[in-house]
Amino acid sequence: PPSILGNCKSRSESGDGENYADIDWDGIGFSLVPTDYMYVMKSARGDKFSQGSLVPFGNIEISPSAGILNYGQGIFEGLKAQRTEDGRILLFRPDENAQRMKRGADRLCMPSPSNDQFVNAVKQTVLANKRWVPPPGKGSLYIRPLLMGTGALLGVAPAPEYTFLIYCCPVGSYHKGGALNLKVEDKLYRAISGMGGTGGIKSITNYAPVYPAMTAAKANGFSDVLFLDSATGKCIEEATSCNLFVVKGNTIFTPEIVGTILPGITRKSIIEIAIDSGYQVIEGAVSVVEMLEADEMFCTGTAVVVNSVASVTYKDTKVDYKTGPKTLSAKLRSILVGIQTGCVEDKK
Ligand code: COI
Repeated sequence: PPSILGNCKSRSESGDGENYADIDWDGIGFSLVPTDYMYVMKSARGDKFSQGSLVPFGNIEISPSAGILNYGQGIFEGLKAQRTEDGRILLFRPDENAQRMKRGADRLCMPSPSNDQFVNAVKQTVLANKRWVPPPGKGSLYIRPLLMGTGALLGVAPAPEYTFLIYCCPVGSYHKGGALNLKVEDKLYRAISGMGGTGGIKSITNYAPVYPAMTAAKANGFSDVLFLDSATGKCIEEATSCNLFVVKGNTIFTPEIVGTILPGITRKSIIEIAIDSGYQVIEGAVSVVEMLEADEMFCTGTAVVVNSVASVTYKDTKVDYKTGPKTLSAKLRSILVGIQTGCVEDKK
């Protein structure tokens, strides 16, 4: 395989840049395109992960009584590889994903791969599938690491065996329609606060429970749902798959990382970029009232990158926000994408 060229935070690999998979690169969205290989590594309960390997991408066989199927013992990560203009392939801060996976694994009583095992496995997976890394400007390779209790058991307990698996898929834009029209959900909550909650980790159990709110909002023409905090119902938390920011003048507000908020890697990067660019960023409780009075609003996530919010509907009130190329979100997005694609120096 091509050798590793860089050792900076956005790790870099050489790629041949010419041998692409035969698909319509202009037509990719955010849906599954099977690729060539996936990475699999196993560990027994109480043990460490040791030797993993690449296998052809395909179905996996697990017991019907696997911990993940019965008791939801599973987490996932998401990160992207991008191809640069000169044909190299860059990963964006994979160590951050490794560390977040470890925190989630601890919360759900699972062993986790070490930082090096995680990053090496991601690199192997990307290099084995490098013909699926889109040409520059056409999208990215979305990398999905999973960690799950695959051992069989009947009683409620941590599974006896664990599987770390990485698959990947070329993706384009997550939200097809551009700027988002969000519906504030005031009855169903995404996460609960306190020790019992899992909103701050990428638990598989955080997603399906919001489907009733999400499908209802989409059926009514909204792009996504905006969830409120379950303790007071007065502050904003997240959308289904991304963190939220509101802008008033030169100040940017975003919900702070309490247990109900997912510590997004894009969220953290955007905060750093905004501060470096001279903006004040306040991480704290952001009330619905503050949001409705803001000038601009945007969301961040690995899948969504940075996207403007065009409107928010709260009960019977609809508020429109600034969108377009002159927004702060467009400026921050272009710096972030520049770093991710190797056009802007990563100062981190
Ligand atoms: C990501 O941005 O990587 C996510 O995890 C969102 C995903 C649920 C689509």
